[in-house]
Amino acid sequence: MFSSISYPAILPWCFSLLLINSFCTIFKATVNPNETDHLALLSIKAQLHDPLGVMGSWNNSVPLCLWTGVSCGHRHQRVTKLDLRSQSLEGRLSPSIGTLPTNLSHCSNLIVIDFHKNNLVGEIPVQIGYLLKLEHLHADINHLSGPLPASIGNLSNLLVIGLSENSLGGRVPDKLGQLRRLERVNLYYNNFSGMVPASIYNVSSLERLYFSRNRLSGSLPPNIGFTLQNLKHFVITHNYFTGSLPDSLSNASHLEIIDIAKNSFSGKVSIDFSGLNNIYWINMAGNNLGTGTTDDLGFVTSLINCSKFAVFSLNKNQFGGVLPRSITNLSTTIIRISIGSNRISGTIPPGIGNLVNLTGIGMEDNQISGTIPHVIERLSGHTSAERLYYSFSGHTHAERLMTYTYVERPQKPTLIITGEGYMVLL
Ligand SMILES: *[C@@H]1O[C@H](CO)[C@@H](O)[C@H](O)[C@H]1NC(C)=O
Ligand SMILES: *[C@@H]1O[C@H](CO)[C@@H](O)[C@H](O)[C@H]1NC(C)=O
Ligand SMILES: *[C@@H]1O[C@H](CO)[C@@H](O)[C@H](O)[C@H]1NC(C)=O
Ligand SMILES: *[C@@H]1O[C@H](CO)[C@@H](O)[C@H](O)[C@H]1NC(C)=O
Ligand SMILES: *[C@@H]1O[C@H](CO)[C@@H](O)[C@H](O)[C@H]1NC(C)=O
Ligand SMILES: *[C@@H]1O[C@H](CO)[C@@H](O)[C@H](O)[C@H]1NC(C)=O
Ligand SMILES: *[C@@H]1O[C@H](CO)[C@@H](O)[C@H](O)[C@H]1NC(C)=O
Ligand SMILES: *[C@@H]1O[C@H](CO)[C@@H](O)[C@H](O)[C@H]1NC(C)=O
Ligand SMILES: *[C@@H]1O[C@H](CO)[C@@H](O)[C@H](O)[C@H]1NC(C)=O
Ligand SMILES: *[C@@H]1O[C@H](CO)[C@@H](O)[C@H](O)[C@H]1NC(C)=O
Repeated sequence: MFSSISYPAILPWCFSLLLINSFCTIFKATVNPNETDHLALLSIKAQLHDPLGVMGSWNNSVPLCLWTGVSCGHRHQRVTKLDLRSQSLEGRLSPSIGTLPTNLSHCSNLIVIDFHKNNLVGEIPVQIGYLLKLEHLHADINHLSGPLPASIGNLSNLLVIGLSENSLGGRVPDKLGQLRRLERVNLYYNNFSGMVPASIYNVSSLERLYFSRNRLSGSLPPNIGFTLQNLKHFVITHNYFTGSLPDSLSNASHLEIIDIAKNSFSGKVSIDFSGLNNIYWINMAGNNLGTGTTDDLGFVTSLINCSKFAVFSLNKNQFGGVLPRSITNLSTTIIRISIGSNRISGTIPPGIGNLVNLTGIGMEDNQISGTIPHVIERLSGHTSAERLYYSFSGHTHAERLMTYTYVERPQKPTLIITGEGYMVLL
């Protein structure tokens, strides 16, 4: 009986109920589900400004599954992937404002949404929680604002959340901790505040956690290294985290990157790195770590068998004690050591010259004394150990730490040493 009614007249009203009521259920039985996708995408098109005309093929004379950026499942011809990354959607020059389309929620077979690098504004619709098959949500580098809706906790298949470089704020929802398949959470460069819910540190599938440059606070749970056994990248720079660095990180044996720069962590570092064979990046700069006393740097010795080690930064902390001899036994893969602005004493071991890949070393503002090993002196042309900003090995002229830029993409993150002397991982 409903087949005599034309669907365009009925569907918008049906959708507007949002909850699938009995009428919709009956109605849906008579309409091909791909028509639902078809209408939803057409209405997305109507909401977005499309300066590159990427949605030009989104019209009735082209089959849905051949539309640019649209992929369908083979069996049901339902839309499974929407790849509209870097398409300048919502033209920056256009004052007209749309939102990440609510209508997406009707494409219930979607597995991938990719709006990476567009100009989307407005809030993430709560209805995102209806996309129960979603595995990848990418909308990094847009202008999205408002909260991350708790309904995201319904997406039990989600593997990746990519929402970095937006203006999202409020609390990180506790419901994220329900997502038992989640591997990557990319929320850096937003305005999230408050404590990270403890539930997130319980998601054992997590491999990459990027929370940098928000306003997050609180401390890390002591057992984090046991609950996040698969963690590879732990990047939480430029926040307000406090407390000590949990020793249990010694047991997160897949760790490759720990970057906690520019927080307020304190206390002695007692992580045993000897089991972290893949670690190549440790940045603790700009915290209150160390006690200013003798064996603060004892943990350095545990790093000598980490054969991929490349970047080591401890600058601007309270580390005391002598520079351990074992620094010369670090892997020859190391390219940068920054220990400036601490309370470190002792002499520079001549063996530092063994580190043939080292292109930068910063030891300024400490109590390091004695002679500068020949290998450094020869290349830097300077003799003052107090402000040793220079690089050696492969560089014939002195290079200021502050302007050092190391770019190695895409395999490894970009390292930029900013004017403040902090490394930034992007
Ligand atoms: C539909 O899209 C196709 C492919 O981009 C284009 O050739 C055709 O002119 C479009 N038709 C209409 C009516 O816009
Ligand atoms: C929906 O699928 C049917 C059969 O699988 C096909 O004939 C029809 O053209 C599709 N509709 C759209 C809008 O692609
Ligand atoms: C799409 O969303 C807009 C705004 O929420 C709504 O006005 C419109 O009816 C929706 N279209 C469909 C087909 O659901
Ligand atoms: C999320 O799931 C709960 C039940 O688990 C349901 O009540 C709620 O409507 C769902 N919300 C969304 C937006 O999908
Ligand atoms: C961040 O959030 C606070 C409120 O929590 C607000 O006052 C501030 O304007 C926001 N900043 C940005 C850049 O969105
Ligand atoms: C974490 O998981 C453990 C064991 O599964 C459970 O007892 C605990 O309540 C969970 N904590 C949070 C904050 O979800
Ligand atoms: C945790 O790591 C430390 C240091 O590597 C090791 O001594 C300890 O046995 C590990 N604990 C477990 C339960 O694996
Ligand atoms: C490094 O490896 C050597 C040889 O396997 C081993 O004897 C030594 O205990 C290891 N040291 C550390 C700190 O891991
Ligand atoms: C220097 O670093 C490169 C890149 O990590 C590595 O391939 C090479 O083996 C290193 N050289 C030495 C002597 O370790
Ligand atoms: C550390 O390096 C020095 C040379 O700088 C060497 O004499 C010593 O045997 C090395 N120690 C270890 C444990 O490899």
